[in-house]
Amino acid sequence: MSTHTIDIVDRLYAYMLDISLREPDVLRRLRDETAKHPMAIMQISPEQGQLMQMLVRMLDAKNCIEVGVFTGYSSLVVALALPADGRIVACDISEDYTAVGEPFWKDAGVRGKIDLRIAPATETLDAMITAGETGDYDFAFIDADKPGYPEYFERCLSLLRVGGVIAVDNIFMDGNAADPDTTSENAQAMRKFNAMLKDDTRVELSLIPIGDGLTLARKV
Ligand SMILES: C[S@@+](CC[C@H](N)C(=O)[O-])C[C@H]1O[C@@H](n2cnc3c(N)ncnc32)[C@H](O)[C@@H]1O
Repeated sequence: MSTHTIDIVDRLYAYMLDISLREPDVLRRLRDETAKHPMAIMQISPEQGQLMQMLVRMLDAKNCIEVGVFTGYSSLVVALALPADGRIVACDISEDYTAVGEPFWKDAGVRGKIDLRIAPATETLDAMITAGETGDYDFAFIDADKPGYPEYFERCLSLLRVGGVIAVDNIFMDGNAADPDTTSENAQAMRKFNAMLKDDTRVELSLIPIGDGLTLARKV
């Protein structure tokens, strides 16, 4: 029993994975490949991926958005949870990063579900809004440059149907979001975004202390 979230020390974390992680082989292989990348720290954790798959299935999601693909682990997580006619619009600015994931997407048989758009995400999301896709999406995952979060959130919110969910990553910013003395651009951006979201009555909120902190915002 606990009245607050307990600390996940290394031994408990290993136990948690041991008793609950069901990572498909293709995701495990992409994670191993990404671990060799100098920016590997950017990838979400496997238990967060598993949670996102459950969310996608609970929402009966067909149309999803991802802002920030990197080597495509989280895109693959979502694509694997989608029905055969589901799709994810995956936004990133780097062909180098996303090229790492593409062979694994193909290997998993879900390349056709991932609509990769290489451009600044605001441009891609604006084009989707202009194309009349407002209200068409069930789930969005925001995990790109932190100062851009407010712009991504606004656009994803208008693209989402009522009852759809936006999952926002790196809410803790490695713990620095809670430290007012940390003056890094990312920590300041996350603090500002988190404060804004707290008062946003257009969504229901829940912050899951998984990975680097994942806020779920459900459109009401
Ligand atoms: C934290 S990583 C994403 C990690 C990924 N979700 C995963 O779990 O593997 C952030 C990504 O955002 C991308 N990015 C940065 N600025 C962007 C922008 N303006 N528009 C779209 N993507 C951007 C970067 O290229 C990088 O691949």
